[in-house]
Amino acid sequence: MNMRTRVGIIGAGPAGLMLSLLLSMEGIDSIVLENRSREEVESTIRAGVLEQGTVDLMMEMGLGERMKREGAVHHGIELRFDGEGHRIHLYELTNGLAITIYPQHEVLKDCIAARLAQGGQILFNVKDVQLYDVTSSQPHIHFVKGNERVELKCEFIAGCDGFHGVARSSIPTAMQHVFTRSYPFGWLGILMQAPPSTNELIYAYHERGFALVSTRSPELQRMYIQCDPNDDIAEWSDAMILEELQARPTTKDNWTLLVGPIIQKSILVMRSFVIEPMQYGRLFLAGDAAHIVPPTGAKGLNLAVADVRHLARALTQFYKENQTDLLEAYSTTCLRRVWRAEHFSWWMTSMLHRFPEDDSFQQHMQRAQLDYTVSSHAAATSLAENYVGLPFNW
Ligand code: FAD
Ligand code: PHB
Repeated sequence: MNMRTRVGIIGAGPAGLMLSLLLSMEGIDSIVLENRSREEVESTIRAGVLEQGTVDLMMEMGLGERMKREGAVHHGIELRFDGEGHRIHLYELTNGLAITIYPQHEVLKDCIAARLAQGGQILFNVKDVQLYDVTSSQPHIHFVKGNERVELKCEFIAGCDGFHGVARSSIPTAMQHVFTRSYPFGWLGILMQAPPSTNELIYAYHERGFALVSTRSPELQRMYIQCDPNDDIAEWSDAMILEELQARPTTKDNWTLLVGPIIQKSILVMRSFVIEPMQYGRLFLAGDAAHIVPPTGAKGLNLAVADVRHLARALTQFYKENQTDLLEAYSTTCLRRVWRAEHFSWWMTSMLHRFPEDDSFQQHMQRAQLDYTVSSHAAATSLAENYVGLPFNW
């Protein structure tokens, strides 16, 4: 079977779905190819923090109705160490900006519903996606849908297929400049049916390791503890997890964790990764396909959205004004923000985690940095403006 579209988008994650919606606002036709089922895409638990710019964009796109109703706006976060909590006043320090807690899979549900309501095409459960002729003006994608082999002729391909996707490998190895760092720890993340133990996110530095107390809703909480990346999740009993979640964010005035059934737990590895450039011929990479950050700065999803916002603008300029300068600048434009977020995520990670080889010198460095961050207006402002997200035109 043969199909045709202007922009072939691989991956129905935040990058791919937002791109298809942004393009449709400009009347540019696209088809999204996704190798998982709609149910799986809509139920995979991932990120939870939306930057102000992501929220504003969703509102502009008419995607924000449920987010406004069900999401929670937070005006601060807490850094906790040595038994004391210190609030970073995001709102005051950034002249009125905030973050919104609204889970990634809810964003995806809203995007999928909106795109399908427009009559847009998202093909789920496709297999064996392969890219051809990406340096020509007519790149195409081959895939299998059901028992049928399909050839999708495109004018551009957007590789929005995440870190483990196929798009990136269409760039010859000799053209790929890869920058990477792995961390000697992972995060054990849980979902717990319990009321919130805090109004705002708590990032806790502790000798037993990092802990993050986040939230999802009044009934459901999301929390993480630093663990060995090679740990087997089955070896972590619920009791052990709860003990760490109580001990690490402890305070001198006996903060207590409200507990309930743990309904999901998994371990994620932490890495930093960037590929340069993010373009090869008519293939444009966006989101996790091009870069990974450790989750400590809550930047992954937001970076994916920023990339496709640039890509949609560049493609719009190409189709409406017949100009290519934004397409040519795409990689450079995105990488500036990407490297800023890479630094911020690495910095937060380095400040807050226990390293296996830690010596007391490094621990003094971390404490000095934490103390400075919560005591200096300038340092707190720097954290705040990065956390709520730099302006789109950064
Ligand atoms: P993805 O969301 O990965 O979407 C890519 C899509 O492409 C997927 O649906 C995938 O099924 C599909 N795909 C892959 N290969 C193919 C193929 N060959 N053919 C067709 N489709 C394909 N960030 C945070 O800020 N906080 C967090 O707590 C957090 N937790 C995370 C937990 C996990 C397990 C992971 C993997 C990531 C997490 N992230 C987190 C990062 C954040 O979720 C990502 O940065 C974000 O999902 C990036 O969006 P994306 O659209 O670029 O990629
Ligand atoms: C989350 O709620 O999943 C979350 C929050 C903050 C982070 C990472 C993940 O830094």
